[in-house]
Formats: sequence, C-alpha cells, structure tokens
Amino acid sequence: MKKTVLISVLTASALVAAGLAVAQSGTSGVRSLRNAPIDEVAEVPGVFHQDEKRFGRNYRQQPPLIPHTISRYQIDLRANQCLACHDWTNAGDRGAPTLSMTHYLDREGRQLDRVAGTRWFCTQCHVPQADAPALVENTFRSTAGK
Ligand code: HEC
Ligand code: HEC
Repeated sequence: MKKTVLISVLTASALVAAGLAVAQSGTSGVRSLRNAPIDEVAEVPGVFHQDEKRFGRNYRQQPPLIPHTISRYQIDLRANQCLACHDWTNAGDRGAPTLSMTHYLDREGRQLDRVAGTRWFCTQCHVPQADAPALVENTFRSTAGK
C-alpha cells in the first residue's frame, strides 16, 4: 500500500516538474503538427466526400468504382452484405447490377453458383469514388485517349 502511495507521489512530482519545464520554455520551441506558426489558424485540408454520379472507367479492366456509400455494409469472414444486393440471386429484386460472371469463377476456372472466395473481399478491388486530387502525382493516360 505504502509503496503505491510513494510511487504515485513520485510520478506526480515528475509530472509537475515536466509541466514547469514546458511552461518555462515558452512558445518559441513549440511546433504545430503541420508546422504552421502557432498564432495562425492552420488551413484544414479539404474533405472530399463521395461523389454519387457514376464515374467512367480509366482503363478497360478497372473494377468499377462504387457510386454509393458502403460504411454500413459489413464484410468479414462470414458475412458479406454487398451480396444482399449484388449477388445474382438478389440483384433483380434489389435493382442493383449483378456481379459479372468473373466473380463466380474459382481459380481453376470452374463456374460456381456462389461468389468465388477470391472475390469475397469486394473492397480489395472496388473503392468508393470521390472527385479528389491524386494522392501521388502520376502521368497515367488512358488508352482511350482521355
Ligand atoms: C442496398 C443495396 C446495395 C448494397 C448493400 C450494395 N450495393 Fe453496390 N450498388 C447498388 C445499386 C442500386 C447500384 C447501382 C447504382 C447506380 O446505378 O447508380 C450499385 C452499384 C455498385 C457498383 C458499380 C457497378 C458498375 O457497374 O458501375 C459497385 C462496384 C458496387 N455497387 C459495389 C458494392 C460493394 C463493394 C458493396 C458492399 C460494400 C455494395 N455495392 C453494396 C446497390 C447496393
Ligand atoms: C479481385 C478483384 C475483385 C474483387 C475482390 C471483386 N470484384 Fe467486382 N469487379 C472486378 C472487376 C475487374 C470488374 C470489371 C470486370 C468484370 O466484370 O469482371 C468487376 C465488376 C463488378 C461489378 C459490375 C458488373 C457489371 O457487369 O457491370 C459489380 C457490381 C461488382 N464488381 C461488385 C463486386 C462485389 C459486390 C464484390 C464482393 C462480393 C466484388 N465485386 C469483388 C474486380 C473485383
């Protein structure tokens, strides 16, 4: 019991000492996260929300971008809520595009009735779309000349 009290007292005094050291150093040595002067309001980078109009593909084999939000759709080892709308068994009723037949081919090329394991984690290939600047500069040009 006593030991614990002693340790807490020591910790508390160490914290006070550290606090004083910071206070004494003033603001000169303090740097903000984005290296902006601390007496200026830092510009917050733009937030690019999802764009709900359909984006075209940049190259023929591109997995189409997702034109709707997906934050509520769980995908894990057992559940895949995307299939509730996109699997061939449901797509007609839900008015959603059916998974193309490549999603039902296993790695040996056999046609399956259920989505192939290799296509289970949809977001490995499909991402929600946003009209945002490129994260990394690149010189990509589509073969379609666009
Ligand atoms: C509630 C039903 C529903 C769920 C759940 C759903 N989608 Fe969709 N999805 C749609 C509909 C409807 C469209 C067509 C939208 C349009 O045409 O603008 C669509 C379009 C898409 C497209 C574009 C297809 C194309 O040919 O351009 C992709 C990719 C897609 N969804 C992926 C997903 C993924 C991945 C998930 C799970 C994280 C998911 N969807 C969950 C209904 C759904
Ligand atoms: C390994 C990458 C990969 C995975 C994983 C994947 N897809 Fe795709 N998907 C593609 C590609 C590439 C295309 C376009 C070419 C094609 O249809 O095969 C596509 C096409 C689609 C389309 C459009 C079909 C059409 O005919 O217009 C939908 C919808 C779709 N995927 C939904 C999904 C959903 C939902 C999942 C998860 C169950 C999923 N995909 C998993 C790569 C993938």
